[in-house]
Amino acid sequence: MAKKVTLTRFIIEQQRDLPGVSGTFTLLLNDIVKACKQISHLVNRGDLIGVLGSADSENVQGEVQKKLDIITNDIMVDALSWTGHLAGMASEEVDGIIRIPKHYPKGKYLALFDPLDGSSNIDVNLTVGTIFSILRCNATEPTLEDFMQPGTHQVCAGFVLYGPSTMLILTTGHGVNGFTLDQDIGEFILTHPAMAIPPDSKEFAINMSNQRYWEPPVQRYIAECQQGEEGVRGKNFNMRWIASLVAEVFRILTRGGVFLYPLDLRDPNKPAKLRLMYEANPMAFIVEQAGGACSTGRERILEIKPGGLHQRVPLVLGSKNEVDRITAYHLEAK
Ligand code: AHG
Ligand code: MN
Ligand code: MN
Repeated sequence: MAKKVTLTRFIIEQQRDLPGVSGTFTLLLNDIVKACKQISHLVNRGDLIGVLGSADSENVQGEVQKKLDIITNDIMVDALSWTGHLAGMASEEVDGIIRIPKHYPKGKYLALFDPLDGSSNIDVNLTVGTIFSILRCNATEPTLEDFMQPGTHQVCAGFVLYGPSTMLILTTGHGVNGFTLDQDIGEFILTHPAMAIPPDSKEFAINMSNQRYWEPPVQRYIAECQQGEEGVRGKNFNMRWIASLVAEVFRILTRGGVFLYPLDLRDPNKPAKLRLMYEANPMAFIVEQAGGACSTGRERILEIKPGGLHQRVPLVLGSKNEVDRITAYHLEAK
């Protein structure tokens, strides 16, 4: 029987090859994974334990929160505060920096997370997930500036998919590996080693209902995909839209494709939807490590100097040749 490589074994074996990655990092990752296992259990039990539905409250994003948005946020904060690995945290569901309580030791990392991505899907039993990003921090009392690091500074990025199976997708800058939760033993098992995104694709993901608000380069790209083999692309395309970034990115990691949540001319105060620090940056790190590309349409996501914890950015990611084409259309249209 083929040997089952657990996440713990994989990280320890990889850590031996990673200069400067201490055992602390491995322990931090284990703490995050333990929290996500708890979240997986709650998501899987859903209405049996009354965790679905709206919390009738709004988060800092001005979005109505689901009960599970709050519950999962609390699980992440409670699981990571006491460990002594973190100097601070940031969450989609919390306005400012989440400080480590004084009675706990501090560490040299920052954890930023979207505790429940795609939460509009939770009440209709579709795939959701948790996205996390790890940065280094030398300050014991981090300020906002300590969090404002470009995505290229990430030590680690990952997401957990709560779908037909619970999966962890992870990068520490040495490729992307996927692990499936073996519910019988409670361990994540390496099932998708060295994930790679094909450079070409015939599948795009975009919320077509926003089409009237897109800029011309995006209008042009999508129209050419819709023209299929009779058009300039000379091939037919398929479309997907799951409204869960984690599910779209896993599909793209598995079979290629391109995902767009572009600049939207509807509301000048909110030109983009997805958040840089805990959605775009971790996904960009993962996608680039798998040979894909990730851009705003005009610049590489990972090189953006952040301006705030909840800064929104346009997001185009996936098969490199498709992302490069979309970026070229933006630069041509300057
Ligand atoms: P979140 O649930 O954390 O707010 O994220 C939802 C995001 C992302 O997961 C998804 O790709 C996108 O919002 C869907 O947006 P629409 O509902 O506008 O299609
Ligand atoms: Mn999200
Ligand atoms: Mn969320």
